Formats: sequence, C-alpha cells, structure tokens
Amino acid sequence: MRVIIKENYDEMSKRAAQIVAEQIRLKPDCVLGLATGSTPLGLYKELIRLHREEGLDFSKVITFNLDEYIGLPPEHPQSYHYFMYQNFFNHLNIDPRFIYIPHGMTQDVERFCNWYEKEIERFGGIDLQILGIGANGHIGFNEPGSSLGSRTRIKTLTKKTIEDNARFFEKMEDVPKYAITMGIGTIMDAKKQLLLASGKNKAKAISQAIEGPISQVVPASILQLHRWVTVVLDKDAASMLKMEYFEE
Ligand code: GLP
Repeated sequence: MRVIIKENYDEMSKRAAQIVAEQIRLKPDCVLGLATGSTPLGLYKELIRLHREEGLDFSKVITFNLDEYIGLPPEHPQSYHYFMYQNFFNHLNIDPRFIYIPHGMTQDVERFCNWYEKEIERFGGIDLQILGIGANGHIGFNEPGSSLGSRTRIKTLTKKTIEDNARFFEKMEDVPKYAITMGIGTIMDAKKQLLLASGKNKAKAISQAIEGPISQVVPASILQLHRWVTVVLDKDAASMLKMEYFEE
C-alpha cells in the first residue's frame, strides 16, 4: 500500500488526478471505477482542467460508478447520476455509451446487479478504481458488516450514513435508506485502487483501514490485501496514522 500525504485538499486532488491521468495516457481505452461524494470533487475538477488545457482524452474511456441510491431518478439533484453529469461527464469528451451508473429506479434489482457485473467483465474489468471512504469505514455503500466477498447488490444504509447524507436533503425522511452498490469483491477485482480522504472526520476510518486489522467492521481495511493500492490523504485525514510514510 502506497500512502501519500499532502498538505491540503487541493494538493491531494492534484496528486490523485496525476495518477488517473497517467492511467488514461497509458491505456486510452481504460476502464475507470468512479466514486461520488465531496472528496473526489477536486480530483474531477483537475481532470476537467487537464482535458481542457492539456488535451487529456476521455473519448475511449469507459466508466463504472460504484453506487446509486434506490428510488431516486437520474434527474434528481441528489442522485449520483445527476452528480456525475454535473461535476464530471458534462465537461469531458466522454462517450455516453461508455458511462455506467447503477439505476436507482430499476424494477428488478437482482437482475440489474447481475447485468452490471457482467458489463464490467465484458470490458475486461476495472483498471483503476477511485474510492472515497465513509466516516464508518465504508467503501461504495458497503457498510460495516458487508461480506468482504460481496458483489453488486442492494444494501440498507446505516443510521450513521443516513445522518451524514442528511445535509444534502431537505428533510431526514427524504434521505434514501437503500442503495445499489458494487460489492467489496467487485471493488477488489479492480487492477488498481486509488483511495482518497480529506479532513479530520475521516482520520479514524483511515487509521483503522490502513493500520488496523482486516475486518468487515471496517470494509475499507480489505484493501490491505490488494496488490496495488495508492492512498492519497491530506494532513487532517492522516492525523491518526502511527506509522511513517514517505512519497519516494
Ligand atoms: C457516500 C458514497 C461513498 C463516499 C462516501 C463519503 O457514502 N457512497 O462512495 O466515499 O459517501 O463521502 P464524502 O466524500 O462526501 O465524505
């Protein structure tokens, strides 16, 4: 596991963008696994800048998003569909046929999830998976207690996650309680992992994920078993780490 600690959020985002850009330049038709949340926003902004100013080409890139709320249509401002188009896809030369996001309105969740897994496989698997982390250590919407071998499926969100997400909705009752998420097994199949975290409220989850025991209680800790993981943190998110880390 390579842990890179940057001074602040901006530097974290730029460093992460370099890693994603390297992947795209290395393999222009690569498959990216994408995350939502506030953490990757700076990374997406920097990738858009690289596209505009340095011609970073997304025309052959294929993307699979980690998760989506059940019951929110794509045009709902809090849906992950909406988030991804607003903050990323609308600003790039990406082919809409190559954008995959779980459908929160699907009538047959199980069938949809199987299809999603097959589509990932059909493109040869995810080359680089971008991940944020929940304050309770979740990745995607794989909450504590998720099977470490799980595949794409429906998950019930924990009270903590619902509370954390409440800031985006008018009323507590409006916050979705279920989501479709890639499983931990699905995520672990990606060839490379790029985990980002920023801010003091992530420090505990990060220390448990990186330096704690591997456990379903902290789903992100499974990444310790992956062969290629880069973690990019700002100082606050790294503040509870005990071991020594250096970039070179
Ligand atoms: C949601 C998403 C996760 C994300 C997490 C943290 O639960 N499903 O993929 O990592 O939020 O969000 P933020 O980056 O806003 O702290």
